[in-house]
Amino acid sequence: MLTNFKIPIFDVKNLNYSINGTNILSNISLKIFNAQYIAIIGPNGGGKTTLIRLLLGLEEPSFGEIKIFGKKLKDFKDWHKIGYVPQRASHVDASFPATVLDIVSMGRISQKGFFSKTTNEDNKAVYGAMQKMDILDLKDKIVGTLSGGQKQRVMCARALASKPEVLILDEPNTGVDAISQNRFYSLLKELNNKEKITIVFITHDVGVIADDIARLFTVNQKLTICNNPKQILSCKEMSELYGIDAHLLHNHKHKH
Ligand SMILES: Nc1ncnc2c1ncn2[C@@H]1O[C@H](COP(=O)(O)OP(=O)(O)O)[C@@H](O)[C@H]1O
Ligand SMILES: [Mg+2]
Repeated sequence: MLTNFKIPIFDVKNLNYSINGTNILSNISLKIFNAQYIAIIGPNGGGKTTLIRLLLGLEEPSFGEIKIFGKKLKDFKDWHKIGYVPQRASHVDASFPATVLDIVSMGRISQKGFFSKTTNEDNKAVYGAMQKMDILDLKDKIVGTLSGGQKQRVMCARALASKPEVLILDEPNTGVDAISQNRFYSLLKELNNKEKITIVFITHDVGVIADDIARLFTVNQKLTICNNPKQILSCKEMSELYGIDAHLLHNHKHKH
């Protein structure tokens, strides 16, 4: 336990990333520890998605070091420990002939490969993930016919099917109504509280989840870290650089 506590899940030192000589991310250093709930905000084009893609080895840093679970990124193999819901993951066409059960089951494939037989353990993980996202009653529905909020929970369940220790969500909430949104936030909070799953959540809705999160990262080429997001308004980077309206934050606060 003690070693788990000490080794960060992500340990990033002096990460830099540029495209054609333009700096996209500069001097990013951060540590993310087990069971933390972290929100990432920042303006469009600020580099949030790029940062996540670098953390997952989907882009190559210009320089800097990334360790995952204590290993250098290139030596890390336990990708099932990380669940990822990419930006726009829930844009599924209504004619795509896959049920909720099919989609969530795909979350097991990364671990096993396409042609291996489904085991009891797979079924347990798939049904457990659907239960955690409260979509068991939707399992036979065609995904494309679901509402935005339901699709959001399906994509999240797919990521949970590999039983990850970390769940990374890149703005999964565009085009979803406020009630579904709040329900989704409660489910995330429960995952973090009960299952101790580490959550890294890129969102514009930080005012709403301010009470749930442990730390707040703002990304706009550079990273700033706010360790006391409950006093979100005192994080001057937010109100000054990111134009987040104090009034708006107060009004959006919800109670669980
Ligand atoms: N493949 C790419 N080619 C060129 N520019 C890119 C590429 N990916 C991202 N960028 C640029 O990197 C910057 C950061 O983008 P992104 O990480 O998507 O920001 P965010 O997720 O915060 O909106 C933007 O200026 C974007 O135009
Ligand atoms: Mg993005």
